[in-house]
Amino acid sequence: MRVLGIETSCDETSAAIVEEGGDESRPWRVRSNVVASQVEIHRAWGGIVPELSARQHIRDICGVVERAVEDAGPAVAGERPYDLIAVTQGPGLVGSLLVGLSFAKALAWSRGVPFVPVHHLAGHIESLVLEGGEMPLPAIVLVVSGGHTSLYRVGAPGAYERLGRTRDDAAGEAYDKVAKLLGLGYPGGPVIDRLAADGDDRAVPLPKTRLTHPDRNAPDLPGRRDFSFSGLKTSVARQVTLRRTALGLAADAALPPAEVRDVCASFQRVVTESLLDALFDAARTLGARSVGIAGGVSANSRLRRDAVTRGAAAGLPVFVPHISLSTDNAAMIAAAGIRAYRAGRRGAWGVNAEASLALEQA
Ligand code: KG4
Ligand code: ZN
Repeated sequence: MRVLGIETSCDETSAAIVEEGGDESRPWRVRSNVVASQVEIHRAWGGIVPELSARQHIRDICGVVERAVEDAGPAVAGERPYDLIAVTQGPGLVGSLLVGLSFAKALAWSRGVPFVPVHHLAGHIESLVLEGGEMPLPAIVLVVSGGHTSLYRVGAPGAYERLGRTRDDAAGEAYDKVAKLLGLGYPGGPVIDRLAADGDDRAVPLPKTRLTHPDRNAPDLPGRRDFSFSGLKTSVARQVTLRRTALGLAADAALPPAEVRDVCASFQRVVTESLLDALFDAARTLGARSVGIAGGVSANSRLRRDAVTRGAAAGLPVFVPHISLSTDNAAMIAAAGIRAYRAGRRGAWGVNAEASLALEQA
């Protein structure tokens, strides 16, 4: 089976062709994965503007889908280039989601192929399988991006149980906000990652958030872990102000480059430790056989490096996607779509985009 994946939940228009088959260790093969990024459009505003995002998806979607079919090679671009269409239903920006979903439905109708709606985070989780083959189960997967920071237990293929989530900001959002207050531009993750490499990660005192109150709205599961990053962001802001005062700088002046690198390194250390403490604690508590990290922040060099070190110490295989599969892309949506289709899921014409869709509902 060959699947066309379509992803438009945020600021990337993406289409991909993924094929079933290959060997046991790699159940799916990516034939093409085209991503049209809107980063340049949103950069001027310091963050994503939903209306601009939806309009740009409309401009890009036809070309991106055509290109994905072409890039898949001559063997694919024939009479029936794909047998199924998988498309992100939610969560995300509703106007942006609607562009992809409506396009997918129209294409499915006109070509006479089935379509299957996919949860965006199921896509991020399946990006791990796309890259490294089936994970030994049960697995604990951390999905960490600009919109989400959640921990899932995967007990069986396609069965995702949420163990925790952020109570406030997502980790990627914290990266973006800290970059903004340091005057480093948008998106913040890649630039902080780069600058942190040459900074002292103990130079700036920043606390690790400890959540002391249980979330009354969530079931008390063993292995349950929540996250919080807004306090850390406030601590960074306070440290930046203190350093400006100590150096006699104006309230909005840029810190010297060496100080910026130290702030980046210290912030990145605390975020990484918070994420990995939760991931490996949950894995130990629940007797997991592997762990994974997916989503845009999984591109972070320190997170990847430290995860591998901790995995080796705990005797657990660590799955991380290739950088091209860590930020939003349609290959991961196609992979999750094949999984859902094989489990019997089908899209109805009346299905709608859902801005806040729970993974367990999908
Ligand atoms: O998964 P994604 O492409 O979109 C969402 O679904 O949110 O993730 C985007 C997020 C942004 O917040 C960006 O700053 C962050 O991922 N990010 C990184 C890195 N590359 C992207 N964060 C830390 N280090 C990186 N290298
Ligand atoms: Zn994402």
